[in-house]
Amino acid sequence: MNILLIGSGGREHALAWKLEQSPKCEKLFCAPGNAGISEVAECVDIAAEDVEGIVKFSKENKIDFVVIGPEQPLVDGLASALRDANISVFGPNKDAAQLEGSKGFMKDFFARHNIPTAAYARFTSIDEAVAYIKEQGAPIVIKTDGLAAGKGVIIAMTEEEAIKAATDMLSGEAFGEAGMELVIEEYMEGEEISYFALSDGENYLPLTSAQDHKRVGDGDTGLNTGGMGAYSPFHQMTDELEQKILTHIIEPTVKGMKADGYPFQGVLYAGLMVVNGEPRMIEYNIRFGDPECQPLMMRLDSDLVDILLATDNGTLHEYKDKVQWKDQASLCVVMAANGYPGSYKKGTEIKSTTALNEMDGVKLFHAGTTRDDSDALVNSGGRVLGVVGIGDTIEQAQNKAYQGVDQIDWPDGFCRRDIGWRAIAAQKTKVA
Ligand code: AMP
Ligand code: GLY
Repeated sequence: MNILLIGSGGREHALAWKLEQSPKCEKLFCAPGNAGISEVAECVDIAAEDVEGIVKFSKENKIDFVVIGPEQPLVDGLASALRDANISVFGPNKDAAQLEGSKGFMKDFFARHNIPTAAYARFTSIDEAVAYIKEQGAPIVIKTDGLAAGKGVIIAMTEEEAIKAATDMLSGEAFGEAGMELVIEEYMEGEEISYFALSDGENYLPLTSAQDHKRVGDGDTGLNTGGMGAYSPFHQMTDELEQKILTHIIEPTVKGMKADGYPFQGVLYAGLMVVNGEPRMIEYNIRFGDPECQPLMMRLDSDLVDILLATDNGTLHEYKDKVQWKDQASLCVVMAANGYPGSYKKGTEIKSTTALNEMDGVKLFHAGTTRDDSDALVNSGGRVLGVVGIGDTIEQAQNKAYQGVDQIDWPDGFCRRDIGWRAIAAQKTKVA
């Protein structure tokens, strides 16, 4: 098959690495890709958001299968456009992509199908939002309806903070259009995890769990980011918890989307809060997580092309109980440019990355990297590298990942030094 992968992050490098290993993959293209992806795929200079350009390229180059990494093209209708052109695609159609594209759509969907989540209300009027906040009290969570690159969520610890956030958003000042409609919801306290399952519109296939680290600083402090590191599987995952996630959340989602007329084909990435052993939905994403995808791909032993393709042609049931995962833990440390998630320099040189190729149990995935005019590896984005370690325990995987990180010579970059700390601390208390 000729396969075209869409995107340019660490998630896409991990997907490219796994897709390329498949005997079904004859030729792999990536639009637009990055310096790491260009080592396993032919990168083409088409933006991930260029729906027309991607459809045109796919037709001209006899692409058999398109794998879409990021959410924006899905929300913009790329998968629908490709299916209309009779090209197989991994990713939900535009209407089904609303599950991530509109928080209001998602919350109403949960309510309609009895999927456990935080209590909520939707607002377009400042007065009504303020009245609701006063009635509910703090802590309370204020969210923009539309996509806001992960920044449209304010966890307000006081009523004042909540009122200010809601006012800034609804006035259009904070997030423009995306913030002109709000969801205001109950604050949930618990352990936050990610769970992944594939759906072909009719059936689902459980994948596995992970835990992300969203804050920029050690000990989960500082600003929210796209994700500074992740490990898989979640350290407290049990058969019982997984069964609850599947029967109370994933199954009603797949059935509900179909019943509502939006059969979901792609990956359901459930962002969950586990509260006293009960999973409750925070939000759905309709694509793999970044950086969760990197440790997931390290653990996956099955052919990735087979299972992704099955979401498009409705044959997911054939893979039930057949997906193989390494019985090990994997952990990804993200290296970001100094200043991230605020402003940062681009074009700073990164050295010594090839040393990682020689290391056992370590794998480097590129995110915001490119080559400059003299072919030096430089950063082109905020999140730049993901170093993944694998081992028998989370602690061993963590050691491996940081051994890899320590090989890299990049004075303009930084990383958290404690990825996996909750899991490792919990395991230590268990042993003690
Ligand atoms: P979201 O963009 O919806 O994933 O929200 C970003 C982050 O805010 C999540 O990863 C959670 O850590 C936090 N969050 C969102 N909603 C809630 C909630 N209802 N209660 C507690 N924390 C939340
Ligand atoms: N790791 C968070 C995300 O992909 O949205």
